[in-house]
Amino acid sequence: MTTPDNSPDKLPQHLAVVMDGNGRWAKKRFMPRTAGHKAGVNATRKLVAACAARGIPVLTVFAFSSENWNRPEQEVSTLMSLFVTTLSSEISKLHKQNVQVRFIGDRTRFDECLQKGIMDAEQLTRNNTGLVFNIAANYGGRWDIVNAARQLLQKHSGESVTEERFAQYLQTPDLPDVDLFIRTGGEQRISNFLIWQSAYAELYFTDTLWPDFDEQSLHQALDWYAERERRFGKTSKQIQQEQQNKQAS
Ligand code: FPP
Repeated sequence: MTTPDNSPDKLPQHLAVVMDGNGRWAKKRFMPRTAGHKAGVNATRKLVAACAARGIPVLTVFAFSSENWNRPEQEVSTLMSLFVTTLSSEISKLHKQNVQVRFIGDRTRFDECLQKGIMDAEQLTRNNTGLVFNIAANYGGRWDIVNAARQLLQKHSGESVTEERFAQYLQTPDLPDVDLFIRTGGEQRISNFLIWQSAYAELYFTDTLWPDFDEQSLHQALDWYAERERRFGKTSKQIQQEQQNKQAS
């Protein structure tokens, strides 16, 4: 087996994942959709371990979008209970693995118990130096941008607006931009996830349903990413020249 290339230009510094396909996974097995979400939690646990093992610095997963409130009441309530139970059962293991758990999104709409679980998890793991595991809950990319604009107006009205200053008010002020954006479940959409932060992300879509996404699936996506030529608006020739200069120095 060859050793994977973990150099920063070959390994995403920030991986974002839309974990889609839980409902279809359950349907295929004649199970309720909620069973799919439970299986989805297992896949998420494996993903965190695999990212940490591979040395990816930041992982953000889309656990619940601002639009997910529109799902049937029973599914929303099961998802909320799942978040509460998962947080309390996983947090000490994550802490032992040196994972820093953070949440992005508007948490004020969650009930008190979940808000407390979120705060406790962040508090417990805030000094950890391993993987930053960011959970997007009641999150929407447009909300993130409007929320940032509102704060910027309040704090810096009259001053010039730059991309850098604006980004300081997003939910991810200290995190790198998304390098690799994975969506499972066969749809090819961004669905209002980290839209500012993913401006230059490589987009990877797979038909694999989220509960079936395992370490090997992650490695396939990372191998694909390592082969991408990231140009950030430049030409291919310029990028090749830069690489040659880097190798020569
Ligand atoms: C999308 O699949 C999945 C969700 C809306 C929920 C994702 C949540 C988890 C996997 C749990 C993660 C838990 C934590 C604590 C981070 P879908 O229901 O839209 O599937 P479908 O497209 O097949 O219907």
